[in-house]
Amino acid sequence: MDSAVAFEPYMMARNEEARVADIVVVGAGIAGLTTAYLLQKEGREVLVVDKDRPGGCGESARTTAHLSNVIDDGLAFLEEQVGLDKARLAVASHAAAIERIERIVAEEGIDCDFRRLDGWLIPYTDADATYIEDELAAAHRLGLSGAELCEDAAMPNHRIGPAIRFPQQGQFHPGKYLAALALLITDRGGLIVHGQRVIGVEGGEYALISLGDGRSLKSRACVLATNSPIVDKYAIHAKQAPYRTYAVALAIPVGAVEPALWWDTADPCHYVRMQPATHPGEPDLLIVGGEDHKTGEAEDMATRFTRLEELARRLFPMAGECRYRWSGQVLEPFDGLGFIGRDPANTANIVIATGDSGMGMTHGTIAGMLLTDLVQGRANPWTDLYDPSRKPLRNLKRALSENIDVARQLIGGALGSDAASLAAFPPGSGAVVRLDGTHVAAYVDVSATCTHLGCTVRWNPLENSWDCPCHGSRFAIDGSVLAGPATAPLKPVSGNAAPLRNIGRRS
Ligand code: FES
Repeated sequence: MDSAVAFEPYMMARNEEARVADIVVVGAGIAGLTTAYLLQKEGREVLVVDKDRPGGCGESARTTAHLSNVIDDGLAFLEEQVGLDKARLAVASHAAAIERIERIVAEEGIDCDFRRLDGWLIPYTDADATYIEDELAAAHRLGLSGAELCEDAAMPNHRIGPAIRFPQQGQFHPGKYLAALALLITDRGGLIVHGQRVIGVEGGEYALISLGDGRSLKSRACVLATNSPIVDKYAIHAKQAPYRTYAVALAIPVGAVEPALWWDTADPCHYVRMQPATHPGEPDLLIVGGEDHKTGEAEDMATRFTRLEELARRLFPMAGECRYRWSGQVLEPFDGLGFIGRDPANTANIVIATGDSGMGMTHGTIAGMLLTDLVQGRANPWTDLYDPSRKPLRNLKRALSENIDVARQLIGGALGSDAASLAAFPPGSGAVVRLDGTHVAAYVDVSATCTHLGCTVRWNPLENSWDCPCHGSRFAIDGSVLAGPATAPLKPVSGNAAPLRNIGRRS
């Protein structure tokens, strides 16, 4: 039966006797689908809801898919934040996530280009030798006994100092993997419904999940895997910050470079991997990412892509044309670890996963394993480590700086240019302007006030979107929600805003 039809008996507005679902999973990216897949294997009935098709449009579709147990923020940093024991546990949990993906791929016969390979931490400048030495020592303390210093980083043109080799890392094609998980879930009787936006979740004996079309669902438990949680105003969002990151994919002659993962000591770091050709006659792809910035705080996206291409060609002189460019959003928790577990603002039957920290594929898989245990009432050794209620007190400086930034956005609002300066904006762009004391997102007549907590959104000329610098909500040009935590569109403004729209669109 078609999922949309099978979904109807659960819809409360249509049927007073609506059926209570067992588990509703909100979000069909890697965290949501892995949790749904694992819960279903234990006999639970799963119903997955997303605004888009599974794995298709959220951050899981924008990842460069490194599978690593080397914590993205640095091993020494992690140890400093959470202490030796918890840092060891975190490294082990990411290793377990890679193993779980490998096992699922093998058991289910999924064709998704999964492979084990080496990962390399390479110095970006001559001055980074000490950092490399510190990371190697931390790696050994945290249980990565196979990490070793090598003169040659297995990269065609890397000439700066020794690098650390980390064996047993991984990579895969996330689109193929998630499509296969979705198919397995539905083949086994689960429901996956897309085109439905969830706008609210209330706890209680049963979770009440409100949909954008006015209807709702009831379930025994609800897994919120929406990348950024849509239910909390402050509990989680005060502890993580949104960043944009960029990636390019360049053609490479087939077999010219042995696949590996590389990342460097720059801040923000660059990350590189090879994607073998998927069809005969196609080249391999060299995927290079980096150039991160706080969401809403840059407009020079073209320059960032250019810098990534230049780096790619410097390190890999055989790189050919640039085939793809894209950007994604990373949620950075203050201590580098995701928030996975019971929602602090809700009853125990509502669990969340967020804070990918640039390790979304392993954090999402950890979420699948940990949330399955929590829903099933089992103990899990990672519960405290990823507890969404934890307070990262050791990194007060980073926490304060991010929250001062949010406060600045809330109080001061903005950027703003005068309406008159809109004339300088090219057609098809937007800007935040002040009009009669109100910040207005010009191009279309929507308010520039984010509907999550009221920060002022900023124009993203690459994605043609309005991005909120506070907690990362993103809105389309017409103000509709692209990504939470906001669930409501930017409000329309009327009357005297109309001339701005005309100015913004002139040719
Ligand atoms: Fe929180 Fe915009 S995302 S105020």
